[in-house]
Amino acid sequence: MAHDILQISPLPPFMLKALHEADYIVHDHTHIKDPGALSKVTAIVGTGSAKVDQKLLQMLPHVKLIAICGVGYDGVDVAAAIDKGITVTHTPGVLTDDVADLAMGLVLSIGRRIPQADKFVRNGDWVDDMFALTHQVSGARLGIVGMGRIGRAIAKRAAAFDMRIAYTSRQAKSDVSYTFYQTVTNLAANVDYLVVAVSGGDSTQNLIDHSVLQALGTKGYLINIARGSVVDQPELVQALKNKTIAGAALDVFWDEPIVDPELRRLPNVVLTPHIASATVETRQAMAALTLDNLQAFYEGKALPTPVPECQ
Ligand code: 8YV
Repeated sequence: MAHDILQISPLPPFMLKALHEADYIVHDHTHIKDPGALSKVTAIVGTGSAKVDQKLLQMLPHVKLIAICGVGYDGVDVAAAIDKGITVTHTPGVLTDDVADLAMGLVLSIGRRIPQADKFVRNGDWVDDMFALTHQVSGARLGIVGMGRIGRAIAKRAAAFDMRIAYTSRQAKSDVSYTFYQTVTNLAANVDYLVVAVSGGDSTQNLIDHSVLQALGTKGYLINIARGSVVDQPELVQALKNKTIAGAALDVFWDEPIVDPELRRLPNVVLTPHIASATVETRQAMAALTLDNLQAFYEGKALPTPVPECQ
């Protein structure tokens, strides 16, 4: 039997193709062609930061599954979903390596100023100038905010660069030997690179605030591969302008895809367009896991990867 599902954010063409091949009737939320569709929809599919709030859920009386193609699901009002008997799934695990790879790439890019060096050569500046010396990444102190799957994968990579690793998380982890700090501010005060790897949502909103940036200090770099909401962005822009910190490398922002023009003009930043999981291999694995969750749901089987609140 064909099932009606609602697509609430743009999905890669290969994923849409797979959904059609699996016989789903996919309704695009932004261009509903069939006005009766909403009452037929039984599942929602979208990416990590897509918004699923009470208002949307009220329009969809028969929805019983929200299948997120992403590990983060901070756009979903999970409490409201659970209240209505709706299960939420996501795609943990399959994107960990890519996200950690990009985090290390950003550490190297901001520390060694690789994008700026590239521009220096392209502009022909090398002919009459020397590129300013940068700072060592190997052996430097790395602080990780969040020691979940992704935090651990970043630490593993950083260890290969002989970085001195410390972290903060809700509780110290008994199975890792890195230095633990109770607070983000203490961690920031003791590292050269501070990498944000926590989930988004209310509990981490603006976690990286004025005091954390002050503690990171004039030689410190901030790297964010988590969610824009975790960093107080106006405070960050000020800290970069005033050289309160040395620089920032950011894959995520407030109000994506709009990026504050002030931030875009700064010389001491590296900016990427939320691409941490954006490789062909990983996006295919994420799409496949999302389809597995949908299929299990419609076949009445155990869901492969429900979010922790729904387990
Ligand atoms: C993408 C992400 O934003 O997994 C996440 O939480 O942020 C990313 O992988 C997106 O969800 C890709 O579909």
